[in-house]
Amino acid sequence: MNIVVTAGTTYEFIDAVRFIGNPASGKMGYEIAKAAVARGHKCTLISGPTYLKPPNRVKILKVVSAQDMYREVMKAYKNADAVVMAAAVSDYRPQKRYINKIKKDSKILNLKLIKTPDILSRIGKNKGKRILIGFALEVQNAQKNAIEKLHKKNLDYIVLNMPMSFGKDKISASIISKDEKIVELKSISKKILARKLIKLLERKG
Ligand code: CTP
Repeated sequence: MNIVVTAGTTYEFIDAVRFIGNPASGKMGYEIAKAAVARGHKCTLISGPTYLKPPNRVKILKVVSAQDMYREVMKAYKNADAVVMAAAVSDYRPQKRYINKIKKDSKILNLKLIKTPDILSRIGKNKGKRILIGFALEVQNAQKNAIEKLHKKNLDYIVLNMPMSFGKDKISASIISKDEKIVELKSISKKILARKLIKLLERKG
């Protein structure tokens, strides 16, 4: 199979040096890419900023912002059999990026934020025969919200997880399928979860 995976955070720059981001490390997405090539699949990994080493045999495309990621995913997904969106994409970006560093001249600094493209929803609208896996990072009403996202974004599976897995090697997550079957996984390594996801793709593909 030809599998496209996204990983990590995105940086939405405010000025020359500051950005809006989140602590996603990229570990989950990198493990998925490694698991894909280990099973003999082709994998394109579209990665936000991270300190992780690019995995062997994976085609890696490095991006910074949500818009960059959107552009690369839109190109790569056309030839894909499956897309796994593990990246924690920023939902908003500053409307304007200051060229220089903002000086602390005023007491209040207002930033106007605008929505970034929802990459997964766009792919979901043009899904064809592709298998789509999304991630849902939820704090309240987790399961209900994740199921809603799964249907709204036209996914085959959604992996529900919590912010405490950010940067860790282990994750507690639920894999929810389109028919709303739920598999709960308590504190398993991201490596094992990655293998499970690739197996799900193989079964459907
Ligand atoms: N996602 C995306 N593009 C965005 C935001 C999110 O493709 N601009 C993808 C993520 O990679 C993830 C899924 O959508 O696979 C769900 O992300 P999440 O942040 O949990 O949900 P949102 O759709 O952003 O909704 P909300 O933040 O309101 O819960």
